[in-house]
Amino acid sequence: LNYNVSRERRYILEVLFNGLRRLEYRGYDSSGIALDADRAASPSDAPYAGAPPLVYRQEGKIENLVRSVYSEVDEKDVNLDAAFNVHAGIAHTRWATHGVPAPRNSHPQSSGAGDEFLVVHNGIITNYEVLKETLTRHGFTFESDTDTEVIPKLAKFVFDKSHDEEGDVTFSQVVMEVMRQLEGAYALIFKSPHYPNELIACKRGSTLILGVNELSGQQNGKAFHDVKALTTNGKPKELFFSSDLCAIVEHTKNYLALEDNEIVHIKDGSVSILKFDPHKEKPASVQRALSVLEMEVEQIKKGNYDHFMQKEIHEQPHSLTTTMRGRLKDGEVLLGGLKEHLKTIRRCRRVVFIGCGTSYNAALAARPFVEELTGIPVTMEVASDLLDRQGPIYREDTAVFVSQSGETADTLLALDYALENGALCVGITNTVGSTLSRKTHCGVHINAGCEIGVASTKAYTSQIVAMAMMALAIGSDQISTHARRNAIISGLTSLPSFVSEVLKLDAEMKELASSLIDSESLLVFGRGYNYATALEGALKVKEVALMHSEGMLAGEMKHGPLALVDENLPIIVIATRDACFSKQQSVIQQLLSRRGRLIVMCSKGDASAVCSNGSCRFIEVPGVADCLQPVINIIPLQLLAYHLTVLRGFDVDQPRNLAKSVTTQ
Ligand code: G6P
Repeated sequence: LNYNVSRERRYILEVLFNGLRRLEYRGYDSSGIALDADRAASPSDAPYAGAPPLVYRQEGKIENLVRSVYSEVDEKDVNLDAAFNVHAGIAHTRWATHGVPAPRNSHPQSSGAGDEFLVVHNGIITNYEVLKETLTRHGFTFESDTDTEVIPKLAKFVFDKSHDEEGDVTFSQVVMEVMRQLEGAYALIFKSPHYPNELIACKRGSTLILGVNELSGQQNGKAFHDVKALTTNGKPKELFFSSDLCAIVEHTKNYLALEDNEIVHIKDGSVSILKFDPHKEKPASVQRALSVLEMEVEQIKKGNYDHFMQKEIHEQPHSLTTTMRGRLKDGEVLLGGLKEHLKTIRRCRRVVFIGCGTSYNAALAARPFVEELTGIPVTMEVASDLLDRQGPIYREDTAVFVSQSGETADTLLALDYALENGALCVGITNTVGSTLSRKTHCGVHINAGCEIGVASTKAYTSQIVAMAMMALAIGSDQISTHARRNAIISGLTSLPSFVSEVLKLDAEMKELASSLIDSESLLVFGRGYNYATALEGALKVKEVALMHSEGMLAGEMKHGPLALVDENLPIIVIATRDACFSKQQSVIQQLLSRRGRLIVMCSKGDASAVCSNGSCRFIEVPGVADCLQPVINIIPLQLLAYHLTVLRGFDVDQPRNLAKSVTTQ
């Protein structure tokens, strides 16, 4: 939204499209946009009240929307050079929950003819069926299958009713009444021709960021509740709402992460923040502080790489360095976000790791060394399963939530559950300002930099390293593990250079991928520290290369999976040096005697020790401290999944049906 500077519609479109491109990793099955009507139709400088906005919706990726908008613009002769002193535009990219991907199910959703209220929504409205029934009784007809459509229709209902009964009603009064009736999770932005030059955003549950451009003189942390004073100094201003900082970083570094029940009202370029309280008639105005984003634009660009996944795999020496920066000093681990809570954690009855997908796998990789270094038992929970079972969580537990995005709905619901049960909640996340980092009692930011490829790669390795540092910090009072701790700390310090070394396997992994492109399935066997590597390697192959793949505990092989083994099914066995090495040697022998098609990952120079009969392929990796070996071992598998995907002709960064952050249950 631009204030006090004349901007062409072309510029506005590009800002919105680019924002969507940055968010496309969150969902990419349909998208939409709403722009102000032409100024030419207006008697004054601003679009006049009542002029219906231009609304475009399209199925498929953002570029479909871009193409269709520009072709409609040509067809309908929409004036792209139309300039606006103030413009309020909204756009959205969707990952379908209610209703198939189709233009009518895309956002902005509308109140009906004339688009009197338009809404973009992240989250889920749980009482939409009841609301839909009521609104239908009042004569509204619904066009989409979405839960979102009730919101603009409810806004119109409230607006008409208040107008009839009380005359004038403000935009924020309308939105507040809507909020009063909505149940579920949401981040919403409202636009209406009844309120030209205004936008309202509000949130409960889902994340919403406000970005403020060109606040010269504004200091980090300076409180404000109304930036009007700052925006009437004649300087051009741009204000942004986004569900993610990635979409605003190229415009501004000044941002504010909204709290639940906050309503931001932008009117003629001024900002006011109100706190909604369902029990109070009037909302209180609140003071919030702007933060300064520490993220560089380069992080969200592909640079010289073909794909984000490829870039993110190759930048791991750097991302791991930033994860550890300033945190390992003179044999000590300094984690500012945990410091105050270490005593409580040391006294806890158990540590419960909770996460989904790759983040769960990272926690699984951390489990053995957390147990070893802290002496505290660790249990593992997939977030959705914990909720399904309503599994026991106690006040004496430390619940560690692992999430790259910090926005995964299942993980956040499990967090609410653990908070209700009184556990100490620790967050391990990559996303500063995320819901996870705000709701947990304490935690560690992994600082891996923005991850955009849907398949998580660099976040996985940084999560393991962050948890290694956490384990070292918790166990720092134990004298018996002193030597082991020192070995791990020095292992961590040299990890980035070993990661650089293992990345040199790129061409070899491409060649291996080309030998596997026609396979229907792939098995990965690991155990001990590398059970997680097997699960994560298989997950990568499954999610991006769209090949059936299973990670398995090697100790379980003889209890069932062995039946699958023949000379065609490719099997990766992870047999790098650690306490389980000899057991993995016998697994390899058992597989070979069933003519298994083996690819063995082993420590450099170990090929002949693990398999001497010449029928195996090898992936030789550098050896590091055993508990850090999963950080090295996953990298060839990430490369393999990447090359398999490219060779099989699938979309690397946006695999079929997936989204990077699944913000709905
Ligand atoms: C989605 C993604 C996975 C990711 C998982 C957890 O399912 O497709 O790649 O591992 O969410 O995401 P989080 O942001 O919580 O780590």
